[in-house]
Formats: sequence, C-alpha cells, structure tokens
Amino acid sequence: MAKKITINIKRYDPETEQISIEEHTVQPRHDLTILDALNEINERENAGLSYRFSCRMGICGSCGAVVNGKPVLMCSTFCREFKTPISVEPMRNFPVIKDLVVDTDQAMDKFRDALPYTSFSQQKELKNIPQSPAQLEKIKQTSQCIKCMLCYSACPVYAVHPSFIGPAAAAAGYRYNEDNRDHLREKRMDSLSSKDGVWNCTFVGECSAVCPKSVDPAKAIQKLKIMGVLHSVKSLFKKKK
Ligand code: FES
Repeated sequence: MAKKITINIKRYDPETEQISIEEHTVQPRHDLTILDALNEINERENAGLSYRFSCRMGICGSCGAVVNGKPVLMCSTFCREFKTPISVEPMRNFPVIKDLVVDTDQAMDKFRDALPYTSFSQQKELKNIPQSPAQLEKIKQTSQCIKCMLCYSACPVYAVHPSFIGPAAAAAGYRYNEDNRDHLREKRMDSLSSKDGVWNCTFVGECSAVCPKSVDPAKAIQKLKIMGVLHSVKSLFKKKK
C-alpha cells in the first residue's frame, strides 16, 4: 500500500486567538487535490476545518491558500505535485478570520478605484458597439481574472504598503482602458497613476508567477505606467491652456 500523505494545516481559532499546526494524513490517489484532501479530513475526522470553496474547477476563485509556501488554488493543485509532508496555510497579506479563511475586503475594495466597467455599459440607451477580433485580443488575457487574490497574497509591495492598488485591480483597470468601447481612460488613470497607484510596483513579477489564469498583472502594470506618463503630460497641457 502506498505511503500516506501527511498534511500540516495551519489553524487559527478566533475565540481563543490560538494558532496551531495540525497534522493529518490522507490516502494518496492520483487525482487527489489539496481541496479533496481537506474535505476528506473534515468528513473522516470531523476536524471542523474552515476554508472556502465552491466550483472545484478553478473558476470561482474562492479556494486560495498557501501550499508549501506558494499561493495556489487548492482545487487545481494535486497532492502528487509535492513530497509529503505538505504544509497548507492561509493566504498571506490578509487578516485571518478562521483557519484558512481570510478577509479580502480591503483588497477587493481597490477594484472600485480601477472603475472596472466600460462607459458603454453606463449608457441609458444601449446600442451595439462592434469589437473586432483584434480589439478583443487586446483585452482577452486580462479579462481572464477570477479575483482569487493569489496575486495580492504573493505581492511583496502589497505586504508592506496595503494602500497600494495591487495587481488584480490594476490589471482590471488596464483591461478596461484597452477596451475599444470605453471612454473612461482619463478618469481611471487619475486613480491608477496616483500615489497609491501603479508606481509602487517594483516589477518583482510574483503576481504573474502565481496567477492561475495567466493574466500577467505585472506586464499590465508596466503598460499602465506608460499610460500614466502620457496621462500626466496631457494633464499638464490642460492646466496650461
Ligand atoms: Fe472554485 Fe477552487 S473551488 S476556484
């Protein structure tokens, strides 16, 4: 019989404020994901572990955790990718509510500053605005974001400057700036190139390395910096007029 997998789970009890590492074992299986393993532990041992999940297929973005030091979606990460023991911890850079459940509200709020919608969607009378395959291609990659917040968990800048707009919100801003149906770019750039905007990014690239949807927020942020320079020059000319 194959050797059992040991999983060390970091737990936090909000009532006692105790942090502990709890060791559990599961039977190996080729298709066993980290999420499956946690579900098995909860069902078999009545462990009362708290964690989030919904779709189990890498779409809803709710099952983020740090596995062996790397932020991942637990439903899309197989136990076979690691040597036993495997460590599972809550996502970094967020307050922990209980066990693996974290509070992402502060980071989620940053999406508001990125105005993640088109001016087209706000018109009272909607009329079709065509989008060519080439125009769609420009926004396709950044449209794949599932708001799993793994990029915030991996971002060393967000870790020390929680006011930084951060990778996913910036990528969303870039996506809408590049949408041919949109006319809010200048308004969006007011916040994206403000002091808490994209300039804080030091291009470490960890956000792109952990993104499960290959959104590449690091690249989007560098392009936003170029847009930010043009935005500043335009603003200067406007003031002089
Ligand atoms: Fe939906 Fe993992 S459960 S992304």
